[in-house]
Amino acid sequence: MTAPAQDAASKPALFSPITLRGVTAKNRILISPMCQYSADDGVANDWHLVHLGKFAQGGAGTVMVEATAIAPEGRITHGDLGLWNDEQLPPLKRIAAFLRANGSVPAIQLAHAGRKASMQRPWYGNAALTPDDAARGDQPWRIVAPSPIPMDDGWLKPHELTQADLTQMLEDWRRATLRAVSAGYDLLEVHCAHGYLLHEFLSPLSNLRNDQYGGDRAGRMRFPLQVIETVRAAWPKDKPLFVRVSSVDGLDGGIVLEDSVAFAQEAKTRGVDVIDCSSGGLMGSATAARIPRGYSFQVPFASEIRKQANIATMAVGLILHPQQAEDVLAEGHADIVAIGREVLFDPNWPLHAELSLTDGGATETFENWPKQYGWWLERREPGLRKLDGPALPFRKS
Ligand SMILES: Cc1cc2nc3c(=O)[nH]c(=O)nc-3n(C[C@H](O)[C@H](O)[C@H](O)COP(=O)(O)O)c2cc1C
Repeated sequence: MTAPAQDAASKPALFSPITLRGVTAKNRILISPMCQYSADDGVANDWHLVHLGKFAQGGAGTVMVEATAIAPEGRITHGDLGLWNDEQLPPLKRIAAFLRANGSVPAIQLAHAGRKASMQRPWYGNAALTPDDAARGDQPWRIVAPSPIPMDDGWLKPHELTQADLTQMLEDWRRATLRAVSAGYDLLEVHCAHGYLLHEFLSPLSNLRNDQYGGDRAGRMRFPLQVIETVRAAWPKDKPLFVRVSSVDGLDGGIVLEDSVAFAQEAKTRGVDVIDCSSGGLMGSATAARIPRGYSFQVPFASEIRKQANIATMAVGLILHPQQAEDVLAEGHADIVAIGREVLFDPNWPLHAELSLTDGGATETFENWPKQYGWWLERREPGLRKLDGPALPFRKS
């Protein structure tokens, strides 16, 4: 896959379509999965519909539903989404239909939280569940991991997964994938990052097993790769599969980039189309800073994995400015850009990015807006440009 470059006459790279297998997204912007901790018994509700729906209205090529647990004990918190039973299907189906009807590829991330399960929702502390949480109804539950090592002092000690547990878990991944198909999703991502279960298998710091699932890199990759094989077999051949990795642990003795390149190569041979290149999270929350953070700080991981494993990548992390996102693509570091917190700040980020990367001419730019908005804005624009006062927000000229 070649990186889209922008020449003077063409569209910005960020707004060139991308086709993966049988699925085409209208642009290279993907809304990064972001847990809302707002589900009951894993069931999505109107919050999720509006939260995700507004990103489709805001012009994103792809909108990815947050980490959705394949089993109840694989939730991070009591508020996580799940796909372990059929009651969880209808609201997720409604969300997929809305996203598609409003121009976005509906995507979903499947996950198991491993030893980072049974946590407080962030606004109640973001740590292991306490008696106060239990009093509110959020009881802790039995958690599992490759090895019985808690994430940190004060965290629950996980039970070591047996071979029988792992066999059952593959079945859980398979069934959740089939439900994602029934719910109408066109893109699926396997969460192997941020210190959750599959990352715990990959990292030598959290996987001390001495069976076939531990030891050297090949052993540590075995279970995550079995999950990928299982998911790929259940996921339609004409739909793309993404894998999110923590490209590096940023901890002594942890995963380094070479490990993630090797994992990406193996994932590619098993039918993974894109590696989503995040980092960190093995100890502490996914947002705990172990790796120095600055604009585009994870882009070098996407760039190296893309080059060395010869696979398409997605860049994510502190990409805020439209020109910054454009440069990531035009310079060939990644094929897709994921935007997370900045769309919480501005759900119309993709539409605004298009305005700011083009000349801001009303007739070209508002045609991509929902007609319910664009029709009015297009007619307002020429008058606005004649007004005295500061430059118009988001417009280039
Ligand atoms: C509220 C919130 C929830 C998140 N939930 C998930 C998640 O479900 N799955 C995941 O892989 N990453 C999750 N992340 C990480 C984001 O997808 C993204 O990688 C991270 O925020 C960095 O990108 P940004 O700087 O554009 O926000 C979450 C981040 C936030 C802020």
